[in-house]
Amino acid sequence: MESVILNNGCRMPKVMLGSFQMDDPAVMDDIVATAVKEGVFGFDTSPSYKTEGMLASSVLKQIKEGNAKRSDFFIDTKIDSWQMIAKKGDIRPYVMAALDKTGLEYWDMLLIHWPQPENFAATYLTMEKLYEEGIVKNIGVCNFSVRHFEEIEKAGAHIVPMVAQNEIHPLNTEPELTEYCRKHNIVIQAYSPLCRMIYKMKNNALINILAEKYGKSPAQIILRWHVQQGFVPIVKTSSSKRVIENTDIFSFELSKEDQEAVSKLDEHFKIFLESRCCPGY
Ligand SMILES: NC(=O)c1ccc[n+]([C@@H]2O[C@H](COP(=O)([O-])OP(=O)(O)OC[C@H]3O[C@@H](n4cnc5c(N)ncnc54)[C@H](OP(=O)(O)O)[C@@H]3O)[C@@H](O)[C@H]2O)c1
Repeated sequence: MESVILNNGCRMPKVMLGSFQMDDPAVMDDIVATAVKEGVFGFDTSPSYKTEGMLASSVLKQIKEGNAKRSDFFIDTKIDSWQMIAKKGDIRPYVMAALDKTGLEYWDMLLIHWPQPENFAATYLTMEKLYEEGIVKNIGVCNFSVRHFEEIEKAGAHIVPMVAQNEIHPLNTEPELTEYCRKHNIVIQAYSPLCRMIYKMKNNALINILAEKYGKSPAQIILRWHVQQGFVPIVKTSSSKRVIENTDIFSFELSKEDQEAVSKLDEHFKIFLESRCCPGY
């Protein structure tokens, strides 16, 4: 798998696999085993998904069987709002407890899940310390708008986040955020990159015309668009066949015109609304 280089020199895979709404350890084992076979090592989890333990167990199985090393993997986890609130930003105990429980030794990426209004800046300052101690290899944020980046800087942050993870897909391209991130050398991880393949995405006329034209599936067209935009899609599937499909996107290229046409599908359509996931903001 090709990789992107983050602003601290670390490498991150160009496509990663999500784990939201996965609850079957056998399926997780199958997904991780298929991914490793395909050379796919990037995974995303979070305490609120309740998949940290399950994902770690599948990863450790692959390591034990000699199919991969810990250093081959790139694993994101997150700090959830309830954790930020409970410790007023001093979230170190949660990070250490999760590492102890999973046996993963370190997290490749620790992300703020949502900018919980009162505590996200203090949380970020704690994350900087964990990064400097090597407990986490990279730090980043999710669901930030430009004003949130400015707020952590005002609070005294001295490390530019390596990654911003936001809902991005052809129906929601976030031009203001992506410009800010490009300017500050922050790589974007795009979550819900297929817009969950809901009806209006799956049946979008342009995506289906391009699928026909390039001889690829609609999902491959969308994921290829992400990679060409410079985004790292975090795509979820419970099907090992789709792990192969979703990561087999490096042998073709969308033309400049087709790439731009997909970007023009933007209609600010989001699945995750701030008001629901981050009450009070
Ligand atoms: N930071 C945040 O706030 C945040 C929020 C949401 C999500 N995330 C992360 O991003 C990951 C992905 O987001 P998501 O699950 O919301 O959306 P997604 O990856 O855009 O879509 C997943 C859906 O698309 C289907 N799918 C996958 N590959 C497909 C293909 N090739 N053809 C047709 N359908 C396909 C999956 O079904 P099958 O499983 O049946 O294949 C599943 O129903 C999550 O798992 C999580 O790790 C982060």
